[in-house]
Amino acid sequence: MEETLSIIKPDGVGKKIIGTIFKRFEDAGLEIVNIKRLTLTTEKAGEFYYMHKDRPFYPELVKFMTSGPCVPFVIKGENAILKVRELMGATDPSEADAGTIRADFADSIDKNIIHGSDSKESAEREISFFFD
Ligand code: CDP
Ligand code: MG
Repeated sequence: MEETLSIIKPDGVGKKIIGTIFKRFEDAGLEIVNIKRLTLTTEKAGEFYYMHKDRPFYPELVKFMTSGPCVPFVIKGENAILKVRELMGATDPSEADAGTIRADFADSIDKNIIHGSDSKESAEREISFFFD
């Protein structure tokens, strides 16, 4: 069993697809074991994405992530980290496989609906970033 952290980003909350996204994970046999809804401060969003701080898209990413409420949640299941990444689809929705969350709902690479931890280490860090 694994736990991973996902975030429905402000565009996903704005599009009112929280329930749709939860259902996709539940239908895939995963369990949602903790949920929050909050608006990130610039400081917190910057800290969450610190690994990208030198990338050209970082300032816009932080601005976008603070632009409205987001929904961080913890997903549990066998191979949850990889399964969540597969259900999300590629970072750039134009490259995401058909039927993935990003292919179906994301407008662009910088407004791509959802975050998911990419490794055991980041899952641990990101779960404790939002949940005690
Ligand atoms: O979210 P994911 O792990 O798929 O991608 P990432 O490479 O870790 O990038 C984190 C986030 O930065 C992406 O989900 C996008 O929101 C944003 N990003 C962007 O705006 N422009 C890029 N060229 C790459 C990433
Ligand atoms: Mg990433």
